[in-house]
Amino acid sequence: MDDTPLERYVDGLFGGEDPLLRQMREDAAAEGVPSIQVPPDLGRLLQAMVVASRATRILEFGTLFGYSSILMARVLPPEGKIVTLEYSEKHAGIARRNFERAGVAEKVEVRVGKGVDLLPGLHGQQFDLVFIDADKASYPAYLQGALRLTRPGSVILADNVWRHGSILDAADEDSRGIVAFNQEVTHNPHLITTFVPRLSDKDAAALSVVR
Ligand code: SAH
Ligand code: DHB
Ligand code: MG
Repeated sequence: MDDTPLERYVDGLFGGEDPLLRQMREDAAAEGVPSIQVPPDLGRLLQAMVVASRATRILEFGTLFGYSSILMARVLPPEGKIVTLEYSEKHAGIARRNFERAGVAEKVEVRVGKGVDLLPGLHGQQFDLVFIDADKASYPAYLQGALRLTRPGSVILADNVWRHGSILDAADEDSRGIVAFNQEVTHNPHLITTFVPRLSDKDAAALSVVR
């Protein structure tokens, strides 16, 4: 294991993943779905932000097999809803099955397509929290969408904004997307932003609150 000592210590304090989420992770891996769900520390931050923002409406870019949606759904009030956008039909199908297994299917709606193509269909809705975690090249477009679909006090959280520093070296469109996103969240006067490094040291999330 290449866990950092802090990561091992904190994960030990929390006592590890619950059996259902572990099973979903193993099932997804067996079906060839990449294990790129939120790590435990980011999962807890997401849950904390859902509660702190008193969220009842959540938008997520990138469903995968539903891991982060389930974490958020578990701390939403009974009337709370999540709209989660996923490009892969396969991932969306596995996620819908997992929402049934987790007893949160009533709270989570999966829409299939490219995030940028699905944005116009959300026009007129307002979200208390937006979690950006799909294709990195589209992060700037997702942020523009998030800014239109939120209110003062809403939280915008974006995963993978550091990638071990590789975003600075690589000239691929994913890295360029993240670099542009990071510029915007740090310079947009409507956002208060901080970067939250992972306990694993490998990556960071950008946490923004709309002012
Ligand atoms: N939020 C999830 C992880 C998402 S991984 C969790 O923590 O559990 C990223 C997901 O984005 C993958 O499922 C991938 O298929 C999806 N994706 C990739 N390109 C996309 C696009 N253009 N629009 C929407 N989803 C996309
Ligand atoms: C990877 C990790 C992520 O959290 C993600 O959203 C996409 C890719 C990765 O480690 O490759
Ligand atoms: Mg991610």
